Amino acid sequence: MSGGAGGGGLEVGVLAGCRARWGCWRAARDRCSGQLAHGPLANMADGATPAAAPPSSPAAAVAAPPPAAAAAAAAAAKPSASVARKRQIAELEARQAGGETLSKNARKKLLKLRYREEVLPGRKVQQRQQRQQRRKQKKEGRRIKAAATAASGGAVGGAVAGAASVAAAAPPMAPRVAPKVGFAFFEAIGRPRLVAAPMVNQSELPFRLLMRRYGAQLCYTPMIDARSFASSAAYRAASFSTCAADRPLIAQFAGDDPATLLRAALLVQDDVDAVDLNFGCPQGIARRGHYGAFLLDEPDLMCRLVRVLHEGLSVPVTCKVRMLPDDPLATIALCQRLQDAGCSLLTVHGRTRDQKGQMTGRVDWDIIAAVKEKLSIPVIANGGIEVAEDVVRCLEATRADGVMSSEAILACPDLFEPLQVDSTGSVGHPSRTAAAVPAMERQCALAQEYLHLARQHPPSPSATLAGGTREHDTRSNGIIKSHLFKLLYTGLQTNEDLRDRLQFAQTFDEHSDVVADLSKRGGQAPAAAAMSWYRRHRRGEAEGAT
Ligand SMILES: Cc1cc2nc3c(=O)[nH]c(=O)nc-3n(C[C@H](O)[C@H](O)[C@H](O)COP(=O)(O)O)c2cc1C
Repeated sequence: MSGGAGGGGLEVGVLAGCRARWGCWRAARDRCSGQLAHGPLANMADGATPAAAPPSSPAAAVAAPPPAAAAAAAAAAKPSASVARKRQIAELEARQAGGETLSKNARKKLLKLRYREEVLPGRKVQQRQQRQQRRKQKKEGRRIKAAATAASGGAVGGAVAGAASVAAAAPPMAPRVAPKVGFAFFEAIGRPRLVAAPMVNQSELPFRLLMRRYGAQLCYTPMIDARSFASSAAYRAASFSTCAADRPLIAQFAGDDPATLLRAALLVQDDVDAVDLNFGCPQGIARRGHYGAFLLDEPDLMCRLVRVLHEGLSVPVTCKVRMLPDDPLATIALCQRLQDAGCSLLTVHGRTRDQKGQMTGRVDWDIIAAVKEKLSIPVIANGGIEVAEDVVRCLEATRADGVMSSEAILACPDLFEPLQVDSTGSVGHPSRTAAAVPAMERQCALAQEYLHLARQHPPSPSATLAGGTREHDTRSNGIIKSHLFKLLYTGLQTNEDLRDRLQFAQTFDEHSDVVADLSKRGGQAPAAAAMSWYRRHRRGEAEGAT
């Protein structure tokens, strides 16, 4: 090929372009030669034409596979665009973490990469869901119209009655809360002071309904694994269910990947009032899965998760954190960063990640008070609530906007009942003093009430879907049993025969019979066993919170 300097302008341009492309390809080939020396093509004879030879080579054009096959092969060999983007994000973040100040261009690139990787996929899912929703609504409209016409014998005047009966048969639509943030959101859900915690395998629908009947003003789902939820219909069916009476409700998710969390949260946003991120789980499974309290060391990632959900969801995002060890200022700074990233409500558990199991120990209400003082979003205090009076003490000590209970409310779902909340939101002292050990008759009544709710709303909802029956599946059975053992703990201590029967009970009736028999025997446990479930799990905490 020769490019005479005296050629026409167009020709010079074309040739120069060809040379430039060829030069680029050569440079790329040279860059790859190091990889080829070690990669799958390393045994290729020197000088042999690789499959991706430039199309300008006639020999290669003959030997090359058809374009579609070549493209597929190239795609298989290349890392996906998403992987490449993730790698670039990690590289840039590592440079930042190493103290380097990135150039303006590099910062712009990082923003662009994050947007493409974290926000865009969620938007696409959202758009797809909106399209599906519109199709569903159209279909429902046609169904209602058809039913109305049938009900009125084709007369137009009967349409309303027909539509009403069809609407009555349809499941109730959940009331939507406007996507407000911070205190506007808190007000929109009724300014809840008395909050029931997220509890794996325990804050499922029937138990939430029970706690609501006895004063809980806001409930959380158990922690949901975002990855499984986004990818498995079976997991979704087993791990999330709700109903019209189950509001306000916050769905709690665990995960470390913004796009996955957003995909999962988009699937529930129409059925809940907010989505919560779990930054508090201290268990080994959370360490291995890189979520919960093990993200507390990675504030940048935590903030990114919050930001992506805040931008991608139509409902607010909230967080639940544990305090950081040693330095209260670090906990405050972290909470402020979460607020700035878009967190609308923050629950602070006044214990560190290491305070678990035997090491649970005392809860620190002072740190919750300090966080509350610095933040402009609602703060919920968690930890150290054993009886109703503790709620009042905790609110006074922390000035928090609400109080969350977990272990104590499992044993006493009516924990909040004696508390009166007035129209200004202030919580009065309990109307009755809680007994150190709840009367067994009362506990049995609560257990029966729970069983009744569980018959209507299976704890693991997929059981009903699969079998068409309200009888237990193994998972529901485990959840029910776990509740009954906590509710009836003191009574079962002295009635070992009933404890064994409960252990082996398989159906609602068998469970219910054990509870009825325990109720007939009445009485309270003797002193040795007379230690509430909460106390047994909080030994070393001495007289409660600081
Ligand atoms: C059975 C059980 C399950 C729990 N599951 C969760 C959970 O899914 N998500 C979460 O953030 N915390 C979970 N926790 C922690 C509680 O929400 C709460 O932070 C902790 O128990 C301290 O509150 P307490 O002193 O009132 O028990 C769980 C606690 C218990 C006892």
